[in-house]
This record gives sequence, structure tokens and C-alpha cells, in this order.
Amino acid sequence: MKKKWVIISFVLFAVSVILALVTILSSKQKTEKVPEFVLLYADNQAENYPTTLGDVQFANLVYKKTDGRIKIDVKYGAELGSEADVINQMKYGGIAFARVSCTQLAERIPEMNVLNLPYLYDDSEHMWRVLEGEIGDDFLNKTSDYNLVGLSWYDAGARSFYSTEKPITCVGDMNGMNIRVQESSMMADMVTALGAKPVEVVFSDVYAALEKGVVDGAENNWPSYVSMNHYKLAKYYTLDEHMRVPEMQVCSEVVWNMLDESDQKIIKECAKESAVYERRVWNDRERKSVENAVNNGTEVIKLTPEEKKKFRDAMSGVYEKYCGEYMDTINKIIEY
Ligand code: GCU
Repeated sequence: MKKKWVIISFVLFAVSVILALVTILSSKQKTEKVPEFVLLYADNQAENYPTTLGDVQFANLVYKKTDGRIKIDVKYGAELGSEADVINQMKYGGIAFARVSCTQLAERIPEMNVLNLPYLYDDSEHMWRVLEGEIGDDFLNKTSDYNLVGLSWYDAGARSFYSTEKPITCVGDMNGMNIRVQESSMMADMVTALGAKPVEVVFSDVYAALEKGVVDGAENNWPSYVSMNHYKLAKYYTLDEHMRVPEMQVCSEVVWNMLDESDQKIIKECAKESAVYERRVWNDRERKSVENAVNNGTEVIKLTPEEKKKFRDAMSGVYEKYCGEYMDTINKIIEY
């Protein structure tokens, strides 16, 4: 009799253990949600570049704050195409998010050129005061003219010229040089005003253009100059800092309108949070890029204030062409 009860209790115990295990496993399955949205994010920079790290941070934050309902898949290294191609696809919702250079937005929304004007900002702090104030917010909203939603600003430092054969020590040295420019009419006009010939080359092809001698030089910030290996071919970096071109995280309006208001709010918050992170990474990366280039033979040409003024003075035609109706905003920026 006693034996019978021992067997019955053992069977009951085994059944309760199995039931407990089944309950634990099924509750675990319930918490691992299948995302409602899997959205593509494009960046033309390399995997460990500050902007790409910022994008990944953004994706992780959104995933966490939506409990895994929205998953963002960051494709870097121009895997989804050039910036121009990406922006065009976003218009129709083919790509949900991107980090893009403002020159590329300005090609489609001309007023955006105001933010990229040569020698506009005194320094980085000046640019950030503008971007973080009401002017910056206004420009984030202007992207709706091209069916985009501007989410936040990323840092891209200052751009300077670099050359392969001979250093650029004064405006006159640029005479007759072929200089690579972005697909940007304002950049092309700036290079022409300095006496050189602008050659439009897509970012991923600049190294080959320098190598083949299609161009004698290009212009970019320190991290891009190093990350894309341009420093190995163009050993002369002239610190003229002609432009600060901000970068923006944007969302396709088609995708945006599919999301409910609370998710839109989360996305905006995460974009702003990732922008703070990107700026921190940027500062560190900029310093390391200068060190890396100089240790590997880059000669930095510093311009005297008088020479720098000559570069700036050469821009009067560019200002006349691109400022026109936006003079009020430009004056506001200058005084900000
Ligand atoms: C910067 C920017 C890129 C851009 C590139 C260029 O590096 O981050 O988005 O494509 O300039 O010069 O084309």
C-alpha cells in the first residue's frame, strides 16, 4: 500500500515538473516578439565610421524602446547605393532611413544650400548653436518638400582641400587643377571660383579617381580623408576649412505615415539621442584621423589669415548666386 502511494506521488511530482517547464518555455516564446516592422537604413560610410556607429545606436535604441516591434537594419558602405540614389528611393519608401550629407538634400531642396555656404560659420560651436536652435528645427522640417522627415543632425566637421602632386598654399595654386566635388552645384561653383575645374565623382569612386589621376585633388573632412584611404594618395592637406556641411538623419515620409504617433515620437527621441552619441564619437575620431594621417606622411598646410581671407573673398559670386531670397536667414545665422 505504502509502495503504491510512493509511485503516485512520484508521478504527480514528475507531471508538475513537466507542466512547469512547458509554462516557462511558452512564456519565454511569448516575450521574444516577431518585429512588426523591419526597416532599412542607408549610410555610405564604413562600418566603424562615427555616423555608422550613430546609426547602429539609433537602431538599437528604437528596438529597445518599441520592445522589439520595430527592427532597423543598418546597411553601410553604400550597399544600398550612392546618397543621391538612396534619397530618390526614399521618396517612394523603398528605403526607410538614411544618414545623408546636406549637400545632397540641397540639390533637391535648394534652400538647404544656406546651411552649406562656404565660410559661413566661425567654428563648430557656431554651427551647433544654429542647428540646435530654431533655424535647425526649421530646416529639419523643410525636408518635407522632398517627402522626407528630418530627424536629427550629425556632425561632419570641416572640409578642406587635399592634393596629390603639389601642395595648395594659396588660391593661385588651384589654377587649372581638377578637383573632385560631390554631386553638388554649389560645390562645383565654389571650386570654379577658386580657379580650378570641378569634377563630380561619387564618394565611393574618389580613391580610384585620385589613383588614376582623373583628379589632382579632392576636399573632405579628416575622418573621411583617412577612412577612404585618400591620405595614401593625396599627401597635401590644406587646412582652409572652406565648408561645414552638416549631416541629417532622415526618414521616408511614406514609411513615417505607416507608423502610429507614439512610435513616431520614439523614433524622433532615439534619433536625437543617437546624434549626441555621434558627436562624441566624431570628436574623438577627428583627432585620431589627424594623428593617423600625419604619422603616415600627410603634410598639413596652414594658411595665414590673409591667405584664408583670399579664399573667402573669392566666394562673393557663390554667395550672390545661392543666397538671393534667403538673405534674412543667412544674416540670422551669421549673427547667431
Ligand atoms: C562626407 C559625407 C558623405 C559624403 C562625402 C562626399 O564624407 O559624410 O556622406 O558622401 O562627404 O564627399 O561625398
